[in-house]
Amino acid sequence: MAKLTIDDLELKGKRVLIRVDFNVPLDEEGGITDDRRIRSTLPTIEKVLSAGGKAILISHLGRPKGKPDPKLSLRPVAQRLGELLGKEVGFFPDCVGEKVEKKVNELQPGECLLLENLRFYPGERSNDRRFSRGLARLADVYINDAFGTAHRAHSSTYGVARYFSRRAAGYLMEKELNYLGKALTNPSRPFVGILGGAKISGKIEVIANLLRKVNSLLIGGGMAFTFLKAQGLEIGKSLLEEDKLNLAHNLLQNAKDRGISICLPSDCIIAKEIDGEEVKTVPVEAIPPDWMAVDIGPKTTEGFSAKLRGAKTVIWNGPMGIFEQERFAQGTNSIAEVLAQITQEGATTIVGGGDTAAAVQKAGYGDKMSHISTGGGATLEFLEGKELPGVRALTDK
Ligand code: 3PG
Repeated sequence: MAKLTIDDLELKGKRVLIRVDFNVPLDEEGGITDDRRIRSTLPTIEKVLSAGGKAILISHLGRPKGKPDPKLSLRPVAQRLGELLGKEVGFFPDCVGEKVEKKVNELQPGECLLLENLRFYPGERSNDRRFSRGLARLADVYINDAFGTAHRAHSSTYGVARYFSRRAAGYLMEKELNYLGKALTNPSRPFVGILGGAKISGKIEVIANLLRKVNSLLIGGGMAFTFLKAQGLEIGKSLLEEDKLNLAHNLLQNAKDRGISICLPSDCIIAKEIDGEEVKTVPVEAIPPDWMAVDIGPKTTEGFSAKLRGAKTVIWNGPMGIFEQERFAQGTNSIAEVLAQITQEGATTIVGGGDTAAAVQKAGYGDKMSHISTGGGATLEFLEGKELPGVRALTDK
């Protein structure tokens, strides 16, 4: 790790500002539907508390428009965090200003306080200097454990850092950077990438960067059909990004020139309507005009699995089909199962966050991968090869 980490800091008696990513999904009633991002930061928070530090947690939740929105209060998160930590977590309904400073200065070593949603102030997203300074006044030491927000150059992830002489990564940030960083710079080979999801748009740079790193790239999900169309196949009503056909063609050529194998589906599950009754399995050459692909087929799953069984490092981003419907989740579930097996046999398996993480959890393999990233956009930007502002802001070792 090229950056300072929490283990390099003196924490005893210090007010420690910890930027976490508690941007968790909520249901209609405001209940937390997935607390993985909260659980993933426990090691960092526990370390600060057990070392006699005073933990001041800051986060955003959702995208309020720079003003308070009661539906996006972090209060319920403080309660869940308290349950997970097994100790009381204080909550304060603001995040900068004199009242917050007073509250923070009353904290005792080993106590933990979560402040209200940073994005209730426009200065958070605009990386406003005054707002950053307001945050900096709350603490002696700065830790960033919010990998999921590290692609944002906001006050709490970027601007605030300049006011601290030692800015360290928390354990979650360190773990994310170690797993993703090693895969991109020094992977055990063969290194196989799996990409899926609906669209090529948003993942063009990821595909281009992975093609420079992997030995093979397996492509499933909706995006595979733009590649198949670029090879001249008729794909019926399957997802197509007409304006990406040329690009898909070039990427395939580029891979060929580099001697990298890109594996596309050879068969698929098709449906007449996403919610309709009629479903069948066909080779990709035989998709009728008014049908659409909804999952990879069994032959494709078999072929992809064979590639994966020989891999030493795997990065997976994007489901293989419409996994939200159980009947179209077979491809995604099978890939998760193979990854669980090869992890047990010693391969390193990394799952990019967002939909793919949700799919792996749903399939019951949430604790069977080497690493499931807590980032969505941040993971994609990292895989594109970009330096994330939240990481750049940390102190070099
Ligand atoms: C995420 O969920 O990807 C992060 O918390 C960042 O949220 P944002 O896309 O609203 O900046």
